[in-house]
Amino acid sequence: MTFPKCLTHMFCVYITLFSDHFMDNFKDLIRNNNATPHAFAKFSLRKPLMPEDDICYITPGNPESLKECTFNSTSKTFLVIHGWTVSGLFESWVAKLVSALYKREQEANVIVVDWLFTAQNHYPVAAQNTKMVGQEIARFIDWLEEETNIPLENLHLIGYSLGAHVAGFAGSHASNKVGRITGLDPAGPDFEGAHAHRRLSPDDAHFVDVLHTFTRGSLGLSIGIQQPVGHVDIYPNGGSFQPGCNLQSTLETISKLGLFAINDVPRCSHERSIHLFIDSLVNEQEASMAYRCGSNDMFDRGMCLSCRKNHCNTMGYDISKVRKTRSVKLYTKTRASMPFRVYHYQVKIHFSSKVNRSEMEPSLTVSLIGTKGEVDDLKLTLKEKITTNKTHSFLLVAEKDIGDLLMVKFKWEESTSWSASFMLNMVSSWWSGDSAESEVEVHKIRIRIGETQKKMVFCIKDPHALSLQQEITFVKCKDEWRKTSKRFIFFHLINDFIASQGSID
Ligand SMILES: *[C@@H]1O[C@H](CO)[C@@H](O)[C@H](O)[C@H]1NC(C)=O
Ligand SMILES: *[C@@H]1O[C@H](CO)[C@@H](O)[C@H](O)[C@H]1NC(C)=O
Ligand SMILES: *[C@@H]1O[C@H](CO)[C@@H](O)[C@H](O)[C@H]1NC(C)=O
Repeated sequence: MTFPKCLTHMFCVYITLFSDHFMDNFKDLIRNNNATPHAFAKFSLRKPLMPEDDICYITPGNPESLKECTFNSTSKTFLVIHGWTVSGLFESWVAKLVSALYKREQEANVIVVDWLFTAQNHYPVAAQNTKMVGQEIARFIDWLEEETNIPLENLHLIGYSLGAHVAGFAGSHASNKVGRITGLDPAGPDFEGAHAHRRLSPDDAHFVDVLHTFTRGSLGLSIGIQQPVGHVDIYPNGGSFQPGCNLQSTLETISKLGLFAINDVPRCSHERSIHLFIDSLVNEQEASMAYRCGSNDMFDRGMCLSCRKNHCNTMGYDISKVRKTRSVKLYTKTRASMPFRVYHYQVKIHFSSKVNRSEMEPSLTVSLIGTKGEVDDLKLTLKEKITTNKTHSFLLVAEKDIGDLLMVKFKWEESTSWSASFMLNMVSSWWSGDSAESEVEVHKIRIRIGETQKKMVFCIKDPHALSLQQEITFVKCKDEWRKTSKRFIFFHLINDFIASQGSID
């Protein structure tokens, strides 16, 4: 038995545990839970200096407990809701999230909802019980509102995995609408495709924002829910799998910690949603931007970096509360570790040639040189084969801020599969005596930067160096610059005109 096979197998077992085939076996258990009056949730008000410890519980119906825990009714209140658990213990992210929330909102009340007892059941049972737990949290919210008069706009529920659906039920069963629910990779099994009343949905709060980080399908199931379930749904790195969570590192974990660590296989990408949110709390200055796009494929071609008409938004805590009747899907790329922010560039290149060529798969490399630094040898991912006399669009991601873009270096290298036909072309054109004419040429490179919304055109620095076989330097086109600046002035004139008309009215 090889590791990868075993891994796949264990993974399948894990997935199977999630599936609802097990449901029937547990129907009785649920009925028993229903029959006995039983506290499904406890509310621990954590303190900034002891983010790991449960030192004070707020008990619904007991106003004294609010005073004892020094609940501040004028500041924001967060309810952190965990997900399914095998161990029955809080995972390490809970304290990290509590710390991060207090770091950003010092006066806040960060309440950790403890429903570990129920969450420790087999997955389908725990999933089935999310409604009951949610209803109990709703009663807590109602009591809290009545007792302290806190405006519910100040209430923010943050739920991870199954906890995201618990938050949804809490929101929908509370008498008044809560301000915000953040769903961190809401669980998929038993919820994907379910009616809005049976999962997290935009109806559950004034604003519902969702991060999808592990929607990789397997046997038709995915650990995180694939469908959008909020007002704004962000799919970092396409939402299916996260950088740094690859099979290689999984195998390394296994060789170090043994097969017991198998639970970490699904957890890495799933849990990334939490760390992206923590990042947005603690690295406020390095917020990741996400962009609205019709599909992840289009995003990967760099075609969706516009911020016009609310088409982009800040990922995480500082998201703008944009509410449309239909869910809005946004995409972004991230680094493999904190801070996760990257810079997105759309690179548009027109390949021209006197001779028709298609089916080319060269290796394309770009270096970006800016006022603050440079990023070298970034590979352009070919989503389709290169055809001449056509403009191709690519997405380029830089992991650091290089300041204002000054120069672009571009390199075209033949891949081995194509070089044979290229050689043939060379030979035939040599025979016909027009080798120069068969060359593919690039005269301009157009770049749009997502983070700054700047658009620039780059021209070949030395017009005589047209052979793409070596690295070619492109600098900002002089005439293009003049043209855009003229348009800019014209635009200003019109704006001033409109402004002056407006002031007359
Ligand atoms: C409660 O929070 C507010 C800010 O939200 C703060 O001004 C006030 O000092 C806090 N009260 C106490 C008793 O800490
Ligand atoms: C590509 O476009 C250029 C300029 O418009 C033209 O001269 C050339 O013949 C075209 N090549 C092909 C193969 O059509
Ligand atoms: C190149 O291909 C296009 C369409 O495939 C065709 O219209 C054009 O005439 C071709 N040009 C040359 C120079 O072969």
